[in-house]
Amino acid sequence: MRVIIFASIFTLSLFANIFAGPGVKKSMEIKGDFAETKQCIRCHLDIYEEYRSSPHFNSTIYRDEVHRKVFEKYVKATGAKEYKCAKCHTPELKDKTIANFDKNRELIDEAVACAYCHRIEKIEHHPKANKNIILPKKGVYYGTREPQTRSDYHKIINTNPIHKNGDTCMGCHSHKQNAHGFVVCRTESNNTMKQNCVTCHMPQVPGSLSDRVNTPTHAYHGFAGLQSDPKKLAKYIHIELVSKNPLTIAIKNDAPHALLLHPLRVLRLKVAVQDKNDTKTFEKSFVRLIGKDGNPTPPWVATEVVKDTMIKKGERRVVKFDIDAGDAVIDVELGVFRVNPKMAKKLGVKSGYVVLKRERF
Ligand code: HEC
Ligand code: HEC
Ligand code: HEC
Ligand code: HEC
Ligand code: HEC
Repeated sequence: MRVIIFASIFTLSLFANIFAGPGVKKSMEIKGDFAETKQCIRCHLDIYEEYRSSPHFNSTIYRDEVHRKVFEKYVKATGAKEYKCAKCHTPELKDKTIANFDKNRELIDEAVACAYCHRIEKIEHHPKANKNIILPKKGVYYGTREPQTRSDYHKIINTNPIHKNGDTCMGCHSHKQNAHGFVVCRTESNNTMKQNCVTCHMPQVPGSLSDRVNTPTHAYHGFAGLQSDPKKLAKYIHIELVSKNPLTIAIKNDAPHALLLHPLRVLRLKVAVQDKNDTKTFEKSFVRLIGKDGNPTPPWVATEVVKDTMIKKGERRVVKFDIDAGDAVIDVELGVFRVNPKMAKKLGVKSGYVVLKRERF
């Protein structure tokens, strides 16, 4: 009998999830300024698994090759001694000295962490870039559920509207000026409680928000975008066949910001016209190139927009091709190069093409 009880306690303790005993208390102790992401895993496994595939987990010089290569070019060109990019790419890092990277590896690996995002109290607006003001209480996290959820393991505040209306994203995503006072990137926002960064990029998906409670859905923490599950955003992009002669396609962008935001990206429309005899293909690219004196340059040199054909917020862009498509089958694909192929070659990285949407007419 004893042996059985002992054995079953042993098995239960393997599933420590079910216990809220002293072991859990200890594992919730916060050593540095922020709880570590690994401390959230035991109770928020589904969310953690999604987060691991997200650009917020992969935002660091160690995990994002594109970021690292651009950063290395920046250091070479400017002789920078500090990793200023940390502000948004690794916001828990305090000692930004580049020479100390390896010493600070643990904090860098925290990337844009769970505890960091969930402690953003408010956003301060500045011309250079906004600033996240962090709630000065460790182990207290902003949530959005109504009625308020209660967790015995950490405190939750559900009365801060910025976590519901998407303004919490604007500390890092709003805009960034370079040393010449030129805005290298900007995300326009039309955030309302009904539709905002969170409703589109963090839609509710099946599965409980914690394995200790039972909610039918939770907010998607992969942060849908070209790097993570772009299919979730396809419904905000519409492709129409306007006419077959001349072949005319329209793309409608329902997002409140330009369809792509980062100056490294290239949006590409590919049309294949297929009749009995052959297939003809047509392409058109859309970009927002920044630079100086009319030529593209790296962001730290840029003083102007050199070319901007990107599809703007709410825009319906009509594209005409010089062909009569007759009764051919028309396949339309809208995709993105994460890195402009010309730049990809220079940086020695993959251009990383992904499809946003396909339509057949
Ligand atoms: C004000 C916040 C902020 C700062 C400071 C910042 N970034 Fe970023 N960065 C972002 C955001 C937000 C994105 C994602 C934007 C997007 O995908 O459109 C991003 C994306 C990138 C990307 C594209 C990554 C990819 O995988 O496709 C590169 C490269 C990059 N940043 C380089 C840098 C470098 C280098 C620095 C420092 C010299 C820097 N950033 C500083 C906010 C910032
Ligand atoms: C020991 C278990 C446990 C751990 C560890 C844990 N949580 Fe939770 N958390 C919960 C429970 C349980 C709930 C939901 C309570 C409910 O729904 O009644 C919750 C809810 C939340 C919510 C949602 C609040 C809302 O209403 O929207 C956030 C945000 C959150 N946790 C953040 C974190 C972060 C960040 C970490 C890691 C630093 C973490 N949690 C670690 C158990 C835990
Ligand atoms: C602490 C800064 C920070 C905050 C806060 C933040 N982000 Fe980000 N976000 C970034 C950075 C940096 C990247 C780019 C990472 C990379 O690719 O290296 C990024 C990338 C993204 C991308 C990916 C774009 C792509 O290329 O696939 C999406 C979508 C996104 N963020 C949405 C959000 C949303 C929604 C919120 C608010 C809930 C938010 N972010 C809050 C810093 C932040
Ligand atoms: C109506 C839905 C919608 C809303 C609201 C919305 N977005 Fe987007 N977002 C999109 C679509 C569609 C794309 C393009 C498809 C893709 O990247 O997969 C996109 C792309 C992005 C990207 C990637 C662009 C790039 O060049 O890498 C980022 C970052 C982003 N959004 C951030 C935000 C932020 C921050 C907010 C809030 C101010 C926001 N979005 C609000 C639909 C939306
Ligand atoms: C870039 C910012 C950001 C990061 C990083 C982030 N979250 Fe969230 N999280 C949010 C926002 C915003 C919401 C509110 C979503 C909503 O209201 O639909 C949220 C919601 C939640 C919820 C409640 C889900 C629901 O459906 O009510 C939990 C639990 C949670 N986060 C835990 C975590 C954990 C654990 C991590 C790390 C593995 C994490 N978050 C990382 C921004 C973030």
